[in-house]
Amino acid sequence: MNIILLGPPGAGKGTQARHLVETRNMVQLSTGDMLREAKDSGTEMGNMVAGVMARGELVTDEIVIGLIREKLEGDNKGGFIFDGFPRTLEQADALGHLMSDEGKTLDAVIEMRVDDEALVDRITARSTCSGCGEVYNDNTKPIPENGKCTSCGQENLFTRRADDNEESLKTRLMAYYKQTSPLIGYYYAKEMLSSVNGLGTVEAVQGEIKSALET
Ligand code: AP5
Repeated sequence: MNIILLGPPGAGKGTQARHLVETRNMVQLSTGDMLREAKDSGTEMGNMVAGVMARGELVTDEIVIGLIREKLEGDNKGGFIFDGFPRTLEQADALGHLMSDEGKTLDAVIEMRVDDEALVDRITARSTCSGCGEVYNDNTKPIPENGKCTSCGQENLFTRRADDNEESLKTRLMAYYKQTSPLIGYYYAKEMLSSVNGLGTVEAVQGEIKSALET
């Protein structure tokens, strides 16, 4: 099964994708993670996109479609979770073509709904273990007192993202509403869309996604 997790910044896409990887043996394809990796390793492309990402704007379609294209080749029985991709109608069309070129299908699109106020709270309280990508939150999932990641056990590798501040978040939200939210109608028209209440607890959202994938 190949699915898209669609939602604004901080909706919980990464958190839910990690759970699906563990429980369903799926592969998470996060364009945000791929771009941060390129930025951290100082590749030409990484240097090019660093400022764009820090401001909260979208990177060009050409770059992100290229990143996804590289990952789709070959067999993957558990299926892909597209996390943060597509984000524009052009990217959605490109994904459709790439999937059919690879003989794959897109099976479901899960829209995660969270109001803006909760997004600000979540984003400004987030930290991530740079060892394994486990996501923490000062309010709902604080970093353990012993400084060890609960997932990989490595110590003191917690980081905050450069774009996790209120100013960049405003631009990220604007980009979501202007460029990404039209995808809700796009996939609704294709009868692929399910919406879940992303405001529930992590476990409640997991349950809603599970039900959506089983119907
Ligand atoms: P990206 O990395 O994709 O960021 P994003 O879409 O802004 O989403 P986030 O990663 O911020 O949030 P999330 O929904 O994964 O939430 P999380 O699970 O972490 O993109 C970053 C940038 O890269 C973009 O701005 C753009 O520049 C560029 N980019 C990436 N893809 C692109 C593309 N396709 N095209 C163009 N440019 C692209 O959760 C957030 C917090 O909430 C955490 O602290 C978590 O613990 C907490 N939390 C999660 N679920 C719950 C819950 N149910 N209850 C309470 N707390 C929760």
